[in-house]
Amino acid sequence: MNIRVNGKNYSIEVSGSTSLLVALREHLGLTGSKYGCGEGVCGACTVLIGGVPARSCITPVGSAQNKEIMTIEGLEQNGKLHRVQEVLLEADPFQCAYCASGMVMSAVALLERNSSPSKEEIKDAMHGNVCRCCTYPDIVEAIAKAANA
Ligand code: FES
Ligand code: FES
Repeated sequence: MNIRVNGKNYSIEVSGSTSLLVALREHLGLTGSKYGCGEGVCGACTVLIGGVPARSCITPVGSAQNKEIMTIEGLEQNGKLHRVQEVLLEADPFQCAYCASGMVMSAVALLERNSSPSKEEIKDAMHGNVCRCCTYPDIVEAIAKAANA
């Protein structure tokens, strides 16, 4: 199976029905995307496929062939974090941070398609990302700040 992740091409020996999350974590060592529910409802495993947030736990790796996959490891450019990461680091809204990777990827996709979202638009876009520590208000504030950064 040939896949392209964070701008690099990889060839891995997996069946096409293997989840993208398993391919990323166990075959490529990209462990930034987290396993939460495994059922497509918590968002911990969110990656971008063609710039669109996708639940990698329920995405067969075969369906992501020939597409640009981006994980949280791919956000840093030339040693500089993405502005969403920088603002979240500074605001430090998370507690356990298990949701953080998926939150960041969803926020990055949101700001790519809407550089100046309202708080309501941020909440809508982040709706599928669950934070068990309930840090939602601080996360929304931080994403709003990143939009203005
Ligand atoms: S682990 Fe994929 S949505 Fe929960
Ligand atoms: S900070 Fe713990 S799940 Fe979000």
